[in-house]
Formats: sequence, C-alpha cells, structure tokens
Amino acid sequence: MILANFKFYKSLISVISSCLIVLLCWSNLVQASGAERAAGQSCYSVSERTCQIAHELNKGINLGNMLEAPIEGDWKIRLDPAYIELLKGQFQSVRIPIRWSNHASPEGHAKIDDFFIKRVSKAVDQLLANGHYVIINVHHYNQLSGKGLSRNEFMVEEGVLELRLINIWKQLAAYYKGYSDRLIFEVLNEPTGRLTHQKWNQLQKQLVESIREVEPRRTIMITPRAYRPIHQLSKLDVPKDPNLIVALHQYTPFKFTHQGIKYLPMNLPIGVTCCNSVQKKKIVNELNIVTRWNQQHGYPVHLGEFGSYQAGDMQSRVNYTQFMVNELEKRRIGWAYWEFGSSFGIYDTKAKQWRQPLLEALLD
Ligand code: GLC
Repeated sequence: MILANFKFYKSLISVISSCLIVLLCWSNLVQASGAERAAGQSCYSVSERTCQIAHELNKGINLGNMLEAPIEGDWKIRLDPAYIELLKGQFQSVRIPIRWSNHASPEGHAKIDDFFIKRVSKAVDQLLANGHYVIINVHHYNQLSGKGLSRNEFMVEEGVLELRLINIWKQLAAYYKGYSDRLIFEVLNEPTGRLTHQKWNQLQKQLVESIREVEPRRTIMITPRAYRPIHQLSKLDVPKDPNLIVALHQYTPFKFTHQGIKYLPMNLPIGVTCCNSVQKKKIVNELNIVTRWNQQHGYPVHLGEFGSYQAGDMQSRVNYTQFMVNELEKRRIGWAYWEFGSSFGIYDTKAKQWRQPLLEALLD
C-alpha cells in the first residue's frame, strides 16, 4: 500500500515537473518573440530619441498635391485647416511635401518668401499642437535633377541650383530653431536624373552639415538617389550623424499602384488587381532588403510614400493597403500613405467624407 502510494506520488511529481518544464520553455519562447517585436528596428547608430521618433512616426499621411504644386491650388487642392483637424487622433505623423524652390528668390541665396513660410508654419503649428509628428521636405525642385519645369515654375541660373538648396535649408533650420523635436526635416524628395549617386551623396552630406550648423540635434531624414530607393540603399553614403532616419518610398507593384495615370511618361493600362502571391512576394522581398539594411547599419528607416491611384478597383486598393500596413507594422517601420485628398486620396474633398474602406485599411 505504502509502496503503491509512493509510486503514485513519484509519477505524479514527474508529470507535474515535465508540465512545468514545458510551460517554462513555452513562456520563454513567447517572451523571446515578444522582446523581438518590442525591439523594433535596429538603432545602434542613432540617438535614443531619434530611434524613439522613428518608431513613434507610426501611422502617417501625406498632405500631398497642396504645397508642392508650383503654386498652391494649381493641382486643385489647397491646404485647408479643416483637413488638418480631420487627422487629429487618427495619424501619429503627417508629411508635408513643399516646393520651396518656387517660393524662394532665384539667386543663390534663395531668400524664402515670407508669406509662404508663414503659410507653411501655420499648418506646422496646427499639426504640432494637435500632437502629430511633422515632416517637412523639399519636393519637386525639378531643375536641380534636370527635369523639365512644371507650368508656373520659374527657371534659375544653372550655377546656383545646389547653392539654393543649401540656403533654403539654412533658412529653414534658422526659422524652426527652437521648435518641438517632433518637427523633422527631410532634405529632398526622390533625388533623380542628373543627381548621380556620387553627386547626391556629396550634396546630401553638405545639406546635413549646413542644417547642423544651426540645429545640432533635430532629426533629419536622408534618402538614397532614385525613384525606387529600396534598390539603391547599398549606394547610400550615410553621413556620420546620430540623428538621422532614412526615408524610403515604395510603390510596388507599380503596374497596380500607378495604373491609368496620365502624368507618367508611360501609359499603364487599367484593370490590374492586387494582390496575388507574386505581387505580395515582390513587396516582401523589397521590405526584406530594407530590414537587412537596417540591421547592418543601425539607422532606422521610414516609408514616407506608398499608395495606389484611384483608377484601381477599390477592393484591390484595400487589399494592397492592408497588406502594406501589416508588413510594415510587423517590421515596426513607420509609414506615411500617399496621400490625403487627391487622386490617391483617402478623403473625398468634394463629398467631404473619408473613403472609409481605405481609411480603415490604414487605421484598423
Ligand atoms: C512620387 C512623388 C509624388 C508623386 C507620387 C505618385 O514618387 O514623390 O510627388 O505624386 O509619387 O506618383
């Protein structure tokens, strides 16, 4: 009897201890994957604050086609304070593309127009007061990259092109000195054309240095040359600076995201859906390049543009948007959808209502 009891307790103890071991291993596993997720992007080359900013940019939106039009209103949408109020509590960050080059004097010193900078700053102030991170950039300085001018864009002397960009940033750095560190500078949108990798790397370094003379610590976004910058990450020379984030754009699958657009040099036929396994694989492969680069260099990245043009069918646009958001958030990459209220837009400015399925795909 005693022996039987002893045997019973012995096996009970061994069952309990095996259960405990399994439980312990399982909880360790869960903890490990939790820690991995919480760890987010590699940040070993930047300051703690810049790393935090990169992560807190989280979900963002581009106020596109407004201030980067040659003159505000040229592209049928103006920056309305009411739009800004709509973003409150929904998006953590807002990117404002701005064509400073067309609102600065044509000479090398590129004196920025007072009225225009005040116009921009009103929007920046409103966004910061509403708790957003704000990214301002230099967008569509066409002549610098050797592109043709837009209607209403003025030409400057070739010799002052780069100097103007440097002086634009010097003025912006001085103007916004003392502003919240939730305001971020992005040096140039999609440098391409005659800005070769070498030229661009050099100029970008100069831009960062010029900003640093006035603003030693503000977070700056830099970028590789190219429309599809992910594939050119390996050619990016990162200036040695602990407060940098790398800005990238991704419009894969391009034949889906850009179908039916009139302003492109090629005409992409409409009717392309999203997302089959080949399309998804392309997106994921590119994002894997980004993750690998981040781990190898320790600078966080931000996806400042992705989105789909209105000619795609709504269900595909929702599928694409959901897929992107999910993939980006898995990798803890902050993003900004292209864009708010124009032809890629999530808000219908005529009907004055959200395109609900797209908004939900971004925010849910
Ligand atoms: C581009 C530009 C933006 C343009 C958008 C959609 O890469 O940054 O100005 O409107 O993507 O094509």
